[in-house]
Amino acid sequence: MNMKDTLRQMKEEALEKINEVGADLEQIRVRYLGKKGELTAVLRGMGQLSAEERPVVGQIANEVRANIEEALTRRAEEMKAKALEMKLKAEKLDVTMPGKAPAMGHIHPLTLVQRDLEDIFMGMGFSIVEGPEVEYDYYNFQALNIPPEHPARDTQDTFYITDKILLRSQTSPVQARTMEKQKPPIRIISPGRVYRSDPVDATHSPLFHQLEGLVVDKGITMGDLRGTLDVFAKKEFGEDTRVRFRPHHFPFTEPSAEVDISCFSCGGKGCKLCKGEGWIEILGAGMVHPHVLEMGNIDPNEYSGFAFGFGIERIAMLKYHIDDMRLLYENDVRFLKQF
Ligand code: PHE
Repeated sequence: MNMKDTLRQMKEEALEKINEVGADLEQIRVRYLGKKGELTAVLRGMGQLSAEERPVVGQIANEVRANIEEALTRRAEEMKAKALEMKLKAEKLDVTMPGKAPAMGHIHPLTLVQRDLEDIFMGMGFSIVEGPEVEYDYYNFQALNIPPEHPARDTQDTFYITDKILLRSQTSPVQARTMEKQKPPIRIISPGRVYRSDPVDATHSPLFHQLEGLVVDKGITMGDLRGTLDVFAKKEFGEDTRVRFRPHHFPFTEPSAEVDISCFSCGGKGCKLCKGEGWIEILGAGMVHPHVLEMGNIDPNEYSGFAFGFGIERIAMLKYHIDDMRLLYENDVRFLKQF
């Protein structure tokens, strides 16, 4: 076979290989055009040719080289395009497909009630303050007229961290803290967690929430307390709700009262919710004890005040007819979804 035919055959062969499915282009390039490649070998043999034949074969060789190079480039581009097309196909996004709706959470009933209460009292000019849950015995008890050994401590037995530090058993220490820091007029509410070493049952939990209220100014009377709680009761439980005070005792208020609201379920006739009473006990309140004012550096001859405190769980349970407090803490979505 002469050199021209060898070259032509080489070209056919190379082009065929290049077009094969899955061709390894780099390997083909090396095989034909590489330093030790077939075309290079042919060119090396050109010395044996006659002077007339040399340029002719040389030209053919150049053409073959050009053809193979071109075919390699074209095929490389083709393969690249094909790979891109396949990638696009595989990663195709249908933007018209309906998305997965994220599961939306619900505001917890306790949070709902707390926000309601905050709105109601802010509407009456109260501001919100917070106090620590890890509290000094001084603020939780002593500054509230409950010295060591006072029997009122028993009913609020709590978790002591040291002799002097405990988990607060009520939000009332915020009263003492506020009086110490702020001069009258004072008009604050303070919601938050409180702790008592009560065993868990349908109406008790060692952790629960209270909302405290405190007003101190010149000329504050029990009438102001009554009016404030009237507005609260109507806003929270409905316009027809009435408020009733029963005498009670708290060491830090004098006089003290337990406050009932007329049953918002039966209107006072007596039903299952109010256990036939027509009234529902809802909070503790009273006029701030003069000695408590004094301990807060407020002159009881010049100023007077009232305070109240209630359980947020109790209000949530009444309002939403929840009969077991534990439901509020279990965070079962089937329960929470209902609010
Ligand atoms: N701190 C009292 C309690 O937990 C409630 C209360 C607050 C009573 C403010 C009077 C005034 O029982």
